Amino acid sequence: MKHTRIKDLLNATEYGHQVTVKGWVKTFRNNQFIAINDGSTLGNIQAVVDFANTDESLLKRITTGAAVSVSGPLIESLGKGQRVEIKVESLEILGDSDPEKFPLQPKKHSLEFLREIAHLRFRTNTFNAVFKVRNALSFAIHQFFFERGFVYIHTPIITGSDAEGAGEMFKVTTLDFDGTPRKPDGTVDYTEDFFGKSTNLTVSGQLEGELAAMALGNIYTFGPTFRAENSNTTRHLAEFWMIEPEMAFYELEDNMDLAEELLKYVIRFALDHCPDEIEFLKNRLAEEEKSKPQNERSEMDLVSKLHFCLDSRFERLTYTEAIEILRQSKPNQKKQFKYPITGWGADLQSEHERYLVEKHFKKPVILIDYPADIKSFYMRLNEPDDQGRLTVAAMDILFPGIGEMVGGSQREERYDKLVARMEEMGVPAEEMDWFLDTRRFGTAPHSGFGVGFERLVLFVTGMTNIRDVIPFPRTPNNAEF
Ligand code: 4AD
Ligand code: MG
Repeated sequence: MKHTRIKDLLNATEYGHQVTVKGWVKTFRNNQFIAINDGSTLGNIQAVVDFANTDESLLKRITTGAAVSVSGPLIESLGKGQRVEIKVESLEILGDSDPEKFPLQPKKHSLEFLREIAHLRFRTNTFNAVFKVRNALSFAIHQFFFERGFVYIHTPIITGSDAEGAGEMFKVTTLDFDGTPRKPDGTVDYTEDFFGKSTNLTVSGQLEGELAAMALGNIYTFGPTFRAENSNTTRHLAEFWMIEPEMAFYELEDNMDLAEELLKYVIRFALDHCPDEIEFLKNRLAEEEKSKPQNERSEMDLVSKLHFCLDSRFERLTYTEAIEILRQSKPNQKKQFKYPITGWGADLQSEHERYLVEKHFKKPVILIDYPADIKSFYMRLNEPDDQGRLTVAAMDILFPGIGEMVGGSQREERYDKLVARMEEMGVPAEEMDWFLDTRRFGTAPHSGFGVGFERLVLFVTGMTNIRDVIPFPRTPNNAEF
C-alpha cells in the first residue's frame, strides 16, 4: 500500500479508511503509543499498538530513531493532544535503532551538542523547522526575481580572478605540494597547474554578474561563496550562500528600494508558508531567552519582530550622519565601545552597527556613502563633500541582532575613474581586461548588492548562531561531514 505523508493525515477531515505511514519513531510509551514523524511536519502521528496481540520481540524493536511502516485505519483519537491516530493492524520495522547507541533521546539537547552530530540533527524539531524555513526563503528568492523578469545566472565557483578576494581566498589546485613546480625566481609555476594559472574559490559572483547585467538587464546569482577569513564568530562562515542581483540602469536609490522590497517579500513569504515552523521557533527562542539576564532579552518575540520589520520603512542615512550619531551616543561618551568613535573615516564595527539598529533606530537601517578608502574598488565615486572628503555610493543594510545583512553599491561605470581607483587600490587592471570591457563598450550606470543568505535565515528563524542555519557549517578548524 502506498504511504501517506503524516502532514496530510494530521489535516485529514475524514476518518475510517486504511492508511500506511512510514517514518521514524520519536517515542514509544506504555508499550502502546508510538509517536511517528516522517519529516513532512513538526507534528507526529500517534499509532496505537495492540500490545497484547503483538510479539514481544517486535515490541522491543520499536525504539527511538527506528524506521517503521505502520498500517491500519485512521481513527478519531479519544486521547488528549491529537485529533487522529492510527489503529495499528500491521507494523514493520524498516530499520532498527539501538537505543543504547542512538544519540538523540526524547529530551532537550544543546545546540552545541547537536552541532557535533549534525548528520542526525535533521531529526530534531528545531532543525526540521530551520531547514523548512531555509527552503521557503530560498524558493521565495527565486520567485521574487522570476516575477520581476530577472535572469538567474550561474556564475563560476572556481575563479581565475582574485580582484575581490584580496587574501581571503581558498586556492584551487592540483599541484603536488611536495614537488611544487617553481619558476627560476623560486615562485610557484602555475602554468603547470590544472588551469594553467592560479585559481581560487569565488568570494562573490558579482564581477561576472555585472557582465551579464550589461546585456540581459536584470540578473541575479544565488550560489555558494567562500572566504578564508579567520573569523570565529556567530555571523561568519567560510562557506556561505549569497544572493547577488545586478541591475543595468539602476542608481543607488533604486538599488536600496529593490533590496528592501526583496527582504520584505521573502520574510512575508516565510510567515505565510511556514507558520507552524515559525511559531515553533518563536517558542524555542522565548525559551532560550529565559536563560539570559532581563536586560539582554529582546523586547519582541520572533513573530512580532518579523512583522515589525515588514511594517517599518528601513531607515536610510549616510555614513557621515551615522558617525555623528555614534560620536554623540551614550556608549561612546561613556567609553563603552571597544572601538571608540573618534572621527570620520574608520570602518564601523559590529558594536556600532548594532547600536544604530538596536538602540538608536530600533529597525533595519540602510547606511550609504561610505568613505572611499574603506570600500571596494568597483563602487561609484561620489562628488567630494563640502569638506573635500571622498565617499562612494555604497549601501549596507544592517539588521537587529545580525548586523550587516546586505552589502552593495552603485558601480563605477566611468572607465577612467575605475582604472584610477584600481591603480590606487592595487587591483591589477591587466588581469581585469574582461571586466573593463563593459566600461569600454556601451558602459551604463548599474547597481547591485549581495545578501548573506545564512544571515537572512538567522534573522527569520531567530537562531543565534550561523552554524545552526546551514546543514554542514564550514568554519576555521571545522569541515566535518
Ligand atoms: O559585503 P560583501 O562582502 O559584499 C560582496 O561580496 C559584494 N560583491 C556584494 C555585491 O554587491 N554583489 O558580502 C555581502 C553579504 C554581507 O552583507 C553578509 O551578509 C554576507 O554577504 N557575508 C557573510 N555571511 C556569512 N559568512 C561570511 N563570512 C560572510 N561574509 C559576508
Ligand atoms: Mg560588506
